[in-house]
Formats: sequence, structure tokens, C-alpha cells
Amino acid sequence: VRRTPLIAGNWKMNLDHLQAIAFVQKLAWSLADAKHDEASVEVAVFPPFTDLRSVQTLVAADKLPIAFGAQDLSEHDSGAYTGEISGAFLSALDCGYVLIGHSERRTMHAESDEQVAGKVRAALKHNLVPIICVGETAEDLEKHGPSAVPVGQLKAALAGISSTVDIVVAYEPVWAIGSGQAATPEQAEQVAAALRAVLVDALGEDVAQKTRILYGGSVKAANIAGFMREPNVDGALVGGASLDLNEFSSIVRYQ
Ligand code: G3H
Repeated sequence: VRRTPLIAGNWKMNLDHLQAIAFVQKLAWSLADAKHDEASVEVAVFPPFTDLRSVQTLVAADKLPIAFGAQDLSEHDSGAYTGEISGAFLSALDCGYVLIGHSERRTMHAESDEQVAGKVRAALKHNLVPIICVGETAEDLEKHGPSAVPVGQLKAALAGISSTVDIVVAYEPVWAIGSGQAATPEQAEQVAAALRAVLVDALGEDVAQKTRILYGGSVKAANIAGFMREPNVDGALVGGASLDLNEFSSIVRYQ
């Protein structure tokens, strides 16, 4: 099975809607200059909620080869949930993807495995592809080894979903996020292989083989190629380096 690599930029809380328009336009020019082929590598950006309408309009107007999605969504469809954003709203803005369970939400917003599972179900209900983020802290790594925590988080996130779903998994060791200290390609592969085994158990061999598993945590132009050579790593979820146009463009052109 050939899995189209996915290079995803998580902007976190950076770039307002005017900066977003400028960035996406420049990214599109850079992709065009490099004769970017969408079929060989998919590129996606994850701007703040307030940018999504602007990004949608630009991408649609110029038919840009850039996918986009939100950084979170509510488990609920609508109602008295002040400050929350429904998957229905994201679908209406043509989002293809949504990040779920990023470690910053798990730690700073106390998102539980149950909430993450609820958000995965909400995303699928609204035809969004969830990018399910899992990863261990340095303490987890020391206590439980590399795979136990991410494997547990993925099993929990898949609770109650059927075998015919379109999802992406992102393995992001918490100790590697924003630290400048990326995992080694071998470490990423070891956990990605364990995560694919979870997918086989939960969703069956076919879906597991089609599902992309990304690595995230201090990815940059200088280390992307090593990750992409690993058989179970199908792309990257890039934070800091996704805000630097040249760096992000180089990551997309890792080959
Ligand atoms: O979602 C992205 C990750 O948190 C990685 O962030 O590339 O700045 O380490 P980073």
C-alpha cells in the first residue's frame, strides 16, 4: 500500500488572519516554484480558528494545493458551550482535517483520553479527518519505556469507532516538542510500528495499512529526511519550523 506522505504545519497560537493570508500565499508560490506535486506529498496547515475563513477563501479562490484544518474541536455539535467550536462549523469552512489531543491540550487544558475519543467521534461525524496526537513525557519514557503511553492513548482514542474510517495518527514525544531535541528516526519508527499494530487490532489490516502515522517534535529541514526513510513514518507534524516559510518549504521538499 502506498501512503501519500503528509507534511502538516501546526501554527499553534501564531499568525492572525492577515498574516495567515500572506503566509499561505507565499507558501503556494514557493510550492509552485518547486513544481510541487500534490500526489507525491500532501501539504496541510493548521491555523488558529480565527484564520480559517480567510485561509478557506484564499485556497478556494486560487485553487491552492494546500489542505487545512483546525487545531481542536468540541465533542458537541452545538449548544451552550461558550468558547467552543463545533465540527459542523469546521466542515462548513471546508476543513479537511482537525488536530485532536495535542499534548498542549492534554496538559494545559486537562483533556482526558475520554474527551479525545469523543472529539474523534465528533470529527468523523462531521466528515473531518482527525489527526490523533499521542506521545509520552520524559517521565513516562523513563518509567514505562517508549511505546506504552502512546499505545494506551491511541487505544483509548479509537474507542467505539468502526473499521472503515479515515484517520491520521501523530506520534509526538512531549520531550521532543519545541525542545530542539528530536527523537531519532529509529525511536520514531519503533513507536510508529507499535501504533500501527494498535490500528491493525482496532480497525483491521486494510485500514491500518492505509493510515498515515506522522512524527512530530523538533522536525526541521535538517532532520526530516531521516524520519521519512522509516517504513512506518508517513509524514510530519511540524510546529515551530512551520512558521518559517523557507524552513517549511524545505521540509516539504525533503526528498
Ligand atoms: O504539533 C507540533 C508539535 O507540537 C511539534 O512542535 O516542531 O515546535 O517541536 P515543534
